Amino acid sequence: MPATIVVGTQWGDEGKGKFTDLLAKEMAMVVRYQGGHNAGHTLVVGDETFALQLVPSGVLYDHTTPVIGNGVVVDPFVLLSEMKMLTDRGVDCSNLKVSGNAHLILPYHQQLDALHERHLGKNKLGTTKRGIGPAYADKSMRTGVRVQDMLDEGIFRAKIEAALSYHNKVLTKVFNRLPVDPDELADKVLSECLEGLRPHIADTINLIHGALESNEQVLFEGAQATFLDLDHGTYPFVTSSNPTAGGACPGAGVGPKHIDRIVGIAKAYVTRVGAGPFPTELFDDVGDAMVDIGREFGTNTGRRRRPGWFDAVMLRHAARLNSLTELAVTKLDVLDTFDEVKICVAYEIEGERVEELPYHQSSIHKATPIYETLPGWKTDLTQVTDRKDLPKEAIEYLNVVQDRTGVPISLVSTGPGRDQFIQFD
Ligand code: IMP
Repeated sequence: MPATIVVGTQWGDEGKGKFTDLLAKEMAMVVRYQGGHNAGHTLVVGDETFALQLVPSGVLYDHTTPVIGNGVVVDPFVLLSEMKMLTDRGVDCSNLKVSGNAHLILPYHQQLDALHERHLGKNKLGTTKRGIGPAYADKSMRTGVRVQDMLDEGIFRAKIEAALSYHNKVLTKVFNRLPVDPDELADKVLSECLEGLRPHIADTINLIHGALESNEQVLFEGAQATFLDLDHGTYPFVTSSNPTAGGACPGAGVGPKHIDRIVGIAKAYVTRVGAGPFPTELFDDVGDAMVDIGREFGTNTGRRRRPGWFDAVMLRHAARLNSLTELAVTKLDVLDTFDEVKICVAYEIEGERVEELPYHQSSIHKATPIYETLPGWKTDLTQVTDRKDLPKEAIEYLNVVQDRTGVPISLVSTGPGRDQFIQFD
């Protein structure tokens, strides 16, 4: 069964969109399995840049069916405006399928996300305020509203009313805000979203299994990344879903035996948005250069990303968590001008050398990186598309990444454009 998962191996923003787009060329179906419009996948096609939040990357190919799986949380207003943006730019979205079992993000989830962040004060998580956490919390509390509920007005109204009977108490009594009128909200969603979404609502389980049974290639597109995973990330500074490869199983409705290729996307350095530990974080000119050259500002929120050197300790852990079969390294060109480049190969924690990511977060906070320092290549890589044209220093850097992470590198990207990549294996 030819199924592939693309998964971020760091803290997100690895450039998953670019390689998902590249792999999507071969795929019959591209399926998002978790997260929502907290994601921001940038695709550069010729002179055009597409920033996608909810619609799977495969939408840009006519032969690919883009699927929003049951594990995704869907803001219906955002989805419709993204589809409109794409349609206005000539991209056909008629093929897009949205699982009826996916949960909705409604405006009160966003309001609660922002209020909760404010309530946390200096301990805030730095969420994207897109309502992701509150929507998944409702799902777990069994008070969520699903996409399929929109198809039955009575059920839809009843579910919104039930959810708001609780959330309105929180809004008014805890946060001193006005309550949300359930009928007004239901009217708004049904009048503004239902007709636009109706043709896209589908039984995605049947669709995905139909494709797998016909031996068609299916790509599962992870959003966010391994260390933002609710279970495996640096909790509580994580998102509220499971971006790790295993999350594709419940999030799309497939068993693990279907998956035969798991591509980990790793940036040639590391960035993180929001709060939380980050052992290789840089606070100096080198970090500023990574941010400037790599344009490390959120696609979604515009926030400056925190920069740092490549961390092989975390990558080894990510390789285990995701069963990575290969690594695709992005943004190698961002390091083009550096005199030297560093790879963190181990940590020093309270005087001891540690090779594995500690399970206790206090230890991660105390970790000092132990670096292997290599000479920079001081060459513009943005036009390099063949491995044999890579300078020996760049090859050495990639070889050390492979050695220290234990995962073979298959692809390397040297710029945002569709053609700016090297087959490395
Ligand atoms: P949430 O997903 O909006 O709840 O945010 C939780 C944490 O995940 C915050 O630190 C966000 O900055 C981070 N986060 C969420 N989505 C992304 C993403 O697509 N890229 C990078 N970080 C993200």
